[in-house]
Amino acid sequence: MSRFVVTGASGLLGLNLSLQITANDEVLGIANTSPLEGLPFEIQVMDLVNDNFEKDVLEAYKPDAVIHCAAIANLEECEKNPELAYHTNAIVPGEIAYQCRKRDVKFVHISTDAVFDGKSGNYSEHDITNPLSVYAKTKRAGEENVLNRNPDAIIARVNFFGWSLSGTRSLAEFFYNNLISKNPINGFIDVHFCPLYVSHLSDLLLEMVRADLSGIYHVVSSDQMTKYEFGCAIAKQFGLDHKLIHPISVTESNLQAERSLNLTLSTKKLSTDLNRSMPTALDGIKQFFDDYQNGYAQKIRNYSIEN
Ligand SMILES: NC(=O)c1ccc[n+]([C@@H]2O[C@H](COP(=O)([O-])OP(=O)(O)OC[C@H]3O[C@@H](n4cnc5c(N)ncnc54)[C@H](OP(=O)(O)O)[C@@H]3O)[C@@H](O)[C@H]2O)c1
Repeated sequence: MSRFVVTGASGLLGLNLSLQITANDEVLGIANTSPLEGLPFEIQVMDLVNDNFEKDVLEAYKPDAVIHCAAIANLEECEKNPELAYHTNAIVPGEIAYQCRKRDVKFVHISTDAVFDGKSGNYSEHDITNPLSVYAKTKRAGEENVLNRNPDAIIARVNFFGWSLSGTRSLAEFFYNNLISKNPINGFIDVHFCPLYVSHLSDLLLEMVRADLSGIYHVVSSDQMTKYEFGCAIAKQFGLDHKLIHPISVTESNLQAERSLNLTLSTKKLSTDLNRSMPTALDGIKQFFDDYQNGYAQKIRNYSIEN
């Protein structure tokens, strides 16, 4: 049995990942402001920008691996507060990566497909990055800080969806919530991505740790689609009306942070190194539906004191 620390354990990835780890291993989750209750694993409340992670977590808990999911992951929030975004998304990961290296603890840093400008797509790990928004720039700086200070670290560039604590965090929940309420919504026809279901992503991250990989990896679905197609696939899977989704260009929206258009990534390196095929987005949407049917979405929301 291994001992994991997962930061961002109240977030979309961190919570799903921590729950998955508890099936076979031990996990200490780090959360900050989200009020939680009834979790089947230990939670430590901590502000990673100001508190002492090395002493209070690494020294006290002695984990085998740290999976760093905490970030300011809301693009508009990063535009509004670039200094805090830089501190949280770039400085903190470099610090923790270094602390882990000193103690021989495996460090996994979660990054993003948005480090690319989206002008070509199907990016490999060797392609040159060109982040556009404040969020993407801080995440790219975080990758550099981590690799400079801990060359054995894993950097996982991800894009994922799933059921969250608030019930509103992921794009899949956005489509589901609006479609079930029969609200007309927009779906971008010119934003391409490779969305991976969060439980498939969690499996892959744990396999990567077990295989002791290091360096940058693209950890996304093996297929690609537009955000409009993704919404339609959710509608189809849940038997809801896809005509409520209005196909538009992202240029017609009033989002402040600049978006990259083609964020499709190649997963060839990971699938070669793990000697396995990657799940597809459609596999994930099916699992997202099955988990809903099995009460998993409600179970996740019940961990929030506010719900
Ligand atoms: N969602 C996506 O599709 C997507 C796509 C690409 C990459 N990513 C990356 O994947 C990772 C996880 O994203 P997510 O969507 O799961 O994020 P999320 O749901 O927004 O959760 C963010 C988490 O970070 C924690 N956090 C933020 N500031 C903190 C601080 N100062 N100290 C301690 N904890 C802090 C939050 O804690 P509290 O809520 O308790 O304050 C929360 O648990 C991030 O690195 C993100 O950049 C996400």
